[in-house]
Amino acid sequence: MTESYLWWRDGVIYQIYPRSFMDSNGDGIGDLRGIISKLDYVASLGVDAIWLSPINVSPMRDFGYDVADYENIDPSFGTMQDFELMLSEAHQRGLKIMLDLVINHTSDQHAWFKESRSSRDNPKADWYIWKDQIPNNWAGAFGGSGWQWDEKRKQFYFHAFLKEQPDLNWRNADARRALMDVMRYWFSKGVDGFRLDVVNAYYKDAQFRSNPRPFSLNPFKLGSPFLAQTHLYDRDQPELHDAYREMRSITDSYPERAMLGEMLGDDPTRLTRYTDHDQLHLIYSPAPTETAWRPDHFHKLISAWDAATASNPEARVCYLLSNHDRPRHVSRYGNDSLAMQRAKVAAMLLFTLRGTPSIYMGEEIAMPDAKLSRSELQDPASKTYYPFYNRDGARTPMQWAPLPHAGFTNGKPWLRVGETYQTINVANQNEYPDSVLNFYRALMRFRKGSLALRRGAFSMIEQKSRDVLMYQRKIGDRRLVIALNFFAREAVAQLPKGKWKRVFPTRIGGDTVEGALRLTPFEASIYEESDH
Ligand code: NOJ
Repeated sequence: MTESYLWWRDGVIYQIYPRSFMDSNGDGIGDLRGIISKLDYVASLGVDAIWLSPINVSPMRDFGYDVADYENIDPSFGTMQDFELMLSEAHQRGLKIMLDLVINHTSDQHAWFKESRSSRDNPKADWYIWKDQIPNNWAGAFGGSGWQWDEKRKQFYFHAFLKEQPDLNWRNADARRALMDVMRYWFSKGVDGFRLDVVNAYYKDAQFRSNPRPFSLNPFKLGSPFLAQTHLYDRDQPELHDAYREMRSITDSYPERAMLGEMLGDDPTRLTRYTDHDQLHLIYSPAPTETAWRPDHFHKLISAWDAATASNPEARVCYLLSNHDRPRHVSRYGNDSLAMQRAKVAAMLLFTLRGTPSIYMGEEIAMPDAKLSRSELQDPASKTYYPFYNRDGARTPMQWAPLPHAGFTNGKPWLRVGETYQTINVANQNEYPDSVLNFYRALMRFRKGSLALRRGAFSMIEQKSRDVLMYQRKIGDRRLVIALNFFAREAVAQLPKGKWKRVFPTRIGGDTVEGALRLTPFEASIYEESDH
C-alpha cells in the first residue's frame, strides 16, 4: 500500500501551551521567540505538527481562550513578525503549525462585543445572544448561570464559559462571515490548520429550550448546574453540519490544511458524525483524559470510539491523554515511584490506537502536575472549583534543565515551576537511552515506519488477565499485536493464532512466540506475525 503520508492523518500532534513553553525575554511568560529557540527540540521528537494554544490578543481572563482581536498577536507572546518567523522556521523543519481558533465566543473586550452591547440597534446588535429575560436554565461551564445582565444594553447575554466570554450568535450571517474571514486570514498567512475550541457548541437551540436536569446526588452535579444538565439544547444542534461544510470548503481551498475539533461530551456515536470527508478532519473529546488507568476502562472507551468510526473511512479521531485542561496523566494515574514505567505503557497505548495522537508538552518527559496551593492559582475556573478541579497544575513551565526555574525563564515565572524539575527535565532525559523522552522518540520513529499503525484496522483481542490490554492492527496481510501490561506485576496474555516476533522494543535474538505470552511488569510491546 503506497498511500501518501498526510500529516494530520498519519502524523503526531504536539500541543504547546505558549505561556509556559519557553520565555525569551525574561518577563516570566513564554513567547514566540522562546518557541523558535526550541523548534529543534520539537523536531527531534519526531512529531509532525504543533498545536499552539491561543496566541491572539487577549485580556487573558481565560488565558487566551478569550480573544479580543483575532488577527493580531498578544504582545506578551511577541509580534506578527515573530509569528511569521516562527511559522517559517517550523516549516523549514518539516513541522506544521495549528492555531487554536476560539470562535464559539470572544472576549468581552473584543470590538465586536463592545459595539454589540452599545445599543439594541447597532450593526452588530445581533452578533451575540441577547435576551430581555433569562429564557432558560443554561449554565456557564465555569460556574453559575450562563446568562449575564448587561447594564449598558439592559439585556442579558449568554456565555457558556466565563461572563467575560460572551457567546457569538452563529445564526447571524454577518458574524459567521467575519469568522470565516478569520480562517482565511490565517490560512493565507500559511498556517496549516486549526484546533477548534468547543466546536460543537457554536449553535444553540433556536427555541432556547431548557436542558433537562436528571435527578442526581452526585456532589459534583449538585455543586455545578453545568455538570448536572444533559446538554440537549446548548450544543450539538443540527445546523453544525452545514457550518462545518462551509469551514471545510474554505480549508480545502488551501493545500494540505486540516481542522481538529474539540468536542464537548463523550458520546462517540453522536460526536463522530462531525468528522467526514466534507466536515471536520479530526475530532477529539476529553473522554480519554477522564479514563482511569485500568485495562477494562480503556477497553470500553477505545472499543466505543472505534466502533463509532469503523464504518466511515473518512472519520478520524484524535486521541490524547493530557492537555491544558486536566491534571497530567502521570499525576492522574498515581505519581509514585513507578510513574516513569507507567508513562511508557501509556505512550505505547496512545501511539498504537487507530487515530491521530496528540501529546501535551512535557508528557514526553513524564512531567507530573505541580502541587500548587490555592493562593498560587491563576486560572479563574480552578479557583472556583478548587480543590476538585485544577488546570494550573498542568500549566506550569516546561522543565528544560536542572537550572533556576527549570531553564524556562531568567525572570519570575507567571506560574511557579513544578517541584520535580531538578530530576524530571529534558536535559537529564536526553542523556539516558532508557528515559521516557527517548522512548517517545523511538516509538514515534517506529510508528512513522509502520503503515499498520498509521492506517491499519483495529480489533481488540480479549484477554482473561485483568491486567492486560491487547489489540491488533492490520493492513493487507500484515498484522501487529500490541501487548500492554498496565501494572507492576507479571501477567500472562494470550496471543492470537500464529507465530509472533517482538519488533518493539526489539529483543536480542528476536525469538518467535506462540500462544501464551509472559509479560514483565509494565511491559509494553509490539509483536509482528513472524512470516513477514
Ligand atoms: C476549551 C479550552 O480547552 C479551555 O481551556 C477553555 O477554557 C474553554 N474551551 C473555553 O474556551
